[in-house]
Order: sequence, then structure tokens, then C-alpha cells
Amino acid sequence: MKTHRVLTGITTSGTPHLGNYVGAIRPTVRASRLAEVESFYFLADYHALIKVGEPARVQRSTLEIAATWLACGLDPEKVTFYRQSDIPEIPELTWLLTCVTGKGILNRAHAYKASVDKNNAAGEDPDAGVTAGLFMYPVLMAADILMFNAHQVPVGRDQIQHIEMARDMASSFNHLYGEHFTLPEAVTEDHVALLPGLDGRKMSKSYDNTIPLFVPREQLRKLIMGIVTDSRAPGEPKSTEGSALFQLYQAFASADETTALAQAFAEGIAWGDAKQTLFERLDREIAPLREVYDQLIQDPARIEKTLKAGADKARAIATPFTARLREAVGLRRLDSAVSATTTKAAKAAAPAFKQYRESDGLFYFKLVDAGGQLLLQSTGFASGKEAAGAIARLQQQGSQALDGLQAQLTTQADPAALAQALAHFGPDKA
Ligand code: TRP
Repeated sequence: MKTHRVLTGITTSGTPHLGNYVGAIRPTVRASRLAEVESFYFLADYHALIKVGEPARVQRSTLEIAATWLACGLDPEKVTFYRQSDIPEIPELTWLLTCVTGKGILNRAHAYKASVDKNNAAGEDPDAGVTAGLFMYPVLMAADILMFNAHQVPVGRDQIQHIEMARDMASSFNHLYGEHFTLPEAVTEDHVALLPGLDGRKMSKSYDNTIPLFVPREQLRKLIMGIVTDSRAPGEPKSTEGSALFQLYQAFASADETTALAQAFAEGIAWGDAKQTLFERLDREIAPLREVYDQLIQDPARIEKTLKAGADKARAIATPFTARLREAVGLRRLDSAVSATTTKAAKAAAPAFKQYRESDGLFYFKLVDAGGQLLLQSTGFASGKEAAGAIARLQQQGSQALDGLQAQLTTQADPAALAQALAHFGPDKA
């Protein structure tokens, strides 16, 4: 059985550019080919409504991003590929999570805070122009992830906070209603440098410096010829450091090709020739994909069918899971027996693990008993995954797991109290 679930989405608010391709699309398509992962890729069109007020643009972007993913080799037979708004269980889960999320946590979300800071700086009302959609963005995103119990979520670095919030929501929900959600982990491609745009700043829609992935060949050449360079003349040695052109090349070329271009820089290649080299290398990778893309985009009905089939696959998981969650929170049929197994009060009186991150950047956990008394305290773990792994072992193996964890524990209550508390978890309790 496949054990590992990877999930990611792209907001359908624009046209895919080279930065999206190198940073998100290419690595996720490659990862989806690994046999041992089960991948979920989706078009985050509910998210698009937060920023885009033009219906035609949302629709067009959804088509373009879907066609891009398929053209770049995503196999909808192998992965679950769907459109967020085809899964009505997602907004439903958003509400369930909203009810276990502290408003204060959302106040601290970067995107919301940035808008508030900007308003404050301009002397405006702090919430001027801020929709509740922007405020709730992290909850919708958590619902995307938790619905499919994803273990790993490949995202850009700017999204790490959102994954941490999803973990918090999952923990809170699990604590109140039982172990329903996997705590997800962000995966960032640290070795992929942020791709520079035409002006040398990070390639981003907001800087208007992007190179769209699938422009016609001649237009791609023109765009590349417009990349900023310094004014060194042909024959003068050029620096690879800080060169947007060089970084773009590196993102596509092999190690040998990159070394060769660095050599050419040192030997004073003319900027025009360097740009031509970059253009040819890019086009070599993109041309075959562009051909597929151009065909797909002509046939929206086919893409629509693919997405509908993907939605069926996704809902085969989401529908029964949502039924289970509804049952857990008490949205139940009235003619079923009243079951009081997991009320908020009962859960609050049970021992619980708390995982958290300290300002030293490390991940910790503690175990507290029904009365809030500390039973176990860990030292810092390098990653949330390691801390979660230790918790999982304690939950599954009980006191037996303690021996192997000695080096990572500071406080420990007496063995009897610990054994009693740990007995509360166990595989059959989930
Ligand atoms: N917020 C993400 C972005 O703008 C897109 C997104 C929505 C997403 N839901 C998600 C990414 C769930 C990963 C998982 O890049």
C-alpha cells in the first residue's frame, strides 16, 4: 500500500511563468512519478476569488494552469488531479476548522498582517479593504490539506506559515474530537534558487517581470533578449554572480552546461550571444511541452472531463471522510443513539500531547495529564516531523517507547502515571 501522501495546489489567478515552472510545476510532476507516493494536485480556484474580482480571468487561469500541469507530464491516471471548487466538502471542512481556530492565530498570518501594516502606515483603518476571505485564507488552505490527510505539502517558502497553521488546526481538532487528521509538513525546495525575472528581481506577477512559460517561440526569444544585464562590452569578462541571465540558465541546464557558460562568461561572451544560448537551452526543454499545451488549450472540453474524473476520485475520499467528521463533531442524524464518546469536556479531561515550536526554531512536545499537570517534556527536535515521530511512537508503543527517547526528554513523571496516561492513546483509540 502507498503510505505517503503529497498534496499541493496552485491559485488560479494568473498565467504560469518560468518561476512557477521551475519552483513548483517541474519538481511536483517529477515527484508524482515516484512509485511510493500518492499525489494530490489541484487548482485552487476558491483561493483565486480572494485576490481576483474578474470571473473571466479566474476561468482562463484555471484552464491555463490545468493545461500547463498536464502538458508538463502530470498523469491524471496516476495522481488525483482536481479543481478545488468541485469538492463541496472543502468549504464544509473549512467551517469545521474555523470553529477550532483561534482568531488570534489568524491575526498573525503574514498576508493579513501585511495588509494591516500597510493600512496603518497609510493612516487608514487597519482593516480597510481587507476581506474576511483574506483573513480566512489559511483556514481554507488547511481544509485543502487536511481533507486528504497529506503528509507532505510542497510549497514556496512564503507558504510555510500556512502549513504550520494547518498543523495547529489539525491538533486542535484532534484534541477535541479524536485523531482524525494527519499533521502535515511543508516541503520547500531549498536548492532551487528563486528564479529572477526580467529585471533581476524575484520573478513575480506583482513585479510585472515574468516570462510566461508557454508564449510562442519568437516571443520567448524577444523576452529573453530583454533581460537586464550590465554594460560590459563583448570581450570583457562577465560576472556570473548576480546575473539574472546566468541564474535562469542554471535552472534549466545540466552541471556541465552551466560550467561551460561560466567559462564563456569569464572569456567575455557578448551579452547577445549569452542570451541566445539561454534562449536555445530554454526552448529545448519547453518546445515539446508547448506543443502539447497548445493542443490542450484548444480543447477545454477534454480538460473539463479530466478534472471531473479527478473530482470523482477526490470525492471518493472526501465524502466518506466528511461524513465521519460530521459524526465526530455532533452533526448527526437525530434517530441515531446519542453517543457521548468524545465531547469537548471529556476530551479536555484526557491526557494530551502538545507539539509546538519555540523561538529557537526547534520543535518540542509535552504530555500533560487530565488536570494539566506536566508528565513529559521533550528537548528540541530539528524538525516538526521528528517531534511528531516521537509522539507517534509514544502513542503507539506506550511506555515501551520511553527507553529509546531518553536523550530527548527532560521532565518525566513517575512511571505509573506515565503508563496510565500513555495507555490513553494506542492504535485502537484513534
Ligand atoms: N496558497 C497557495 C499559494 O498561493 C496555493 C494553495 C492553496 C495551496 N491551497 C493549498 C498550496 C494547499 C498547498 C496546499 O501558493
